[in-house]
Amino acid sequence: MKKNWFEEKIKKFGLIGGYKKPELVEDSIKLDSNENYVIPKQFQNDIIFSAKKNSDIREYPLGGVERLIDMISKFVKIPSSMIGVGNGSDQILDLILSNFASNQTKVLTSNPTFGFFEERCKLYNIPLITIPFSDNMKLDIKDFLKQSKTADILYLDSPNNPTGFQFGKSELQKLVKSFSGLIIIDEAYGEFSEYSLSNMVKTQNNLIVVQTLSKSFGLAGLRLGYFIANKKFTEIFMNVLQYPYPVSTITIESGIQALENSNQMKDIINIIKIERKRIIDTLQTFDTFEVFDSKANFVLFDAHGAYKRVYSALAEQGISIRKLGKIGNHNGCLRVTVGTKEMNSKFLLAVRDLLG
Ligand SMILES: Cc1ncc(COP(=O)(O)O)c(C=O)c1O
Repeated sequence: MKKNWFEEKIKKFGLIGGYKKPELVEDSIKLDSNENYVIPKQFQNDIIFSAKKNSDIREYPLGGVERLIDMISKFVKIPSSMIGVGNGSDQILDLILSNFASNQTKVLTSNPTFGFFEERCKLYNIPLITIPFSDNMKLDIKDFLKQSKTADILYLDSPNNPTGFQFGKSELQKLVKSFSGLIIIDEAYGEFSEYSLSNMVKTQNNLIVVQTLSKSFGLAGLRLGYFIANKKFTEIFMNVLQYPYPVSTITIESGIQALENSNQMKDIINIIKIERKRIIDTLQTFDTFEVFDSKANFVLFDAHGAYKRVYSALAEQGISIRKLGKIGNHNGCLRVTVGTKEMNSKFLLAVRDLLG
């Protein structure tokens, strides 16, 4: 080992840059991180209140993860032995990549895909084979089928972040059935879409479906993600790869409470879908914009040459959206989260004032 190997490693990591979190703007109307504000604050207060009653944080949460997994099992109607949890789905994706991938394993995915996933592949020197989106922000399944023989891992966020695109169910099922390597289907926004592939895990041993309470349940700050996979993988992941106590007692108890009240979440999803349509329809009335369909809780649009101006004007009014710039042949992409009716109206009104 060279004497200065430690400094060299730090220098190498420095070149990677890391995942760019959105800017923290105090008191802004926050439509930049695909969070869920439609779920009332009271829901949060209730679950945290109950969680506090059931917690003793002087102790390690012995047996807690097992109770949480039993609750997730009831929610997704899949046996507990096929479910694992993590500190957000970020951590699950990270553990899969760091343990199953290397500079020798090629990952097939779309361009763009979930930013954190891309960054992690960079960190571990994992080569990517990327399929670009078409001009109407769609992917062609044939491109994936063609490349599937050359890849070892398939990663798809379904729906995709940041485009909101999702393959038709039978198309994606066909791709999953034809792929012999490891398949990771990231359903962070699955509840806002029309289907989940979670049931396929029962017959498809190489499939891992990753889900989270961050989006549909509005619990991004709780950091609770889970996956559904075959029994053998799940056992190894939870007993060998995962930390002994991957989530806190408060997270475990709050997660259990949230899942016990999951009926509330279903109504919220419907509101978000209606609001998503309103945002798409309204943005489409502006000639300056090209708006793309979305199956998630956000909408992507190309504001072309006006995108920096739109972004800054909104920011000045305390409305924070995500500036993405170039995606494929689209140079001025912006992504807005579907917020509450009131937040969305403020956003749409501000756009109208600017362009109308
Ligand atoms: C596609 C996708 N997967 C996973 C995540 C991470 O979710 P979590 O909060 O569970 O770490 C996100 C968050 O934005 C996402 O967009």
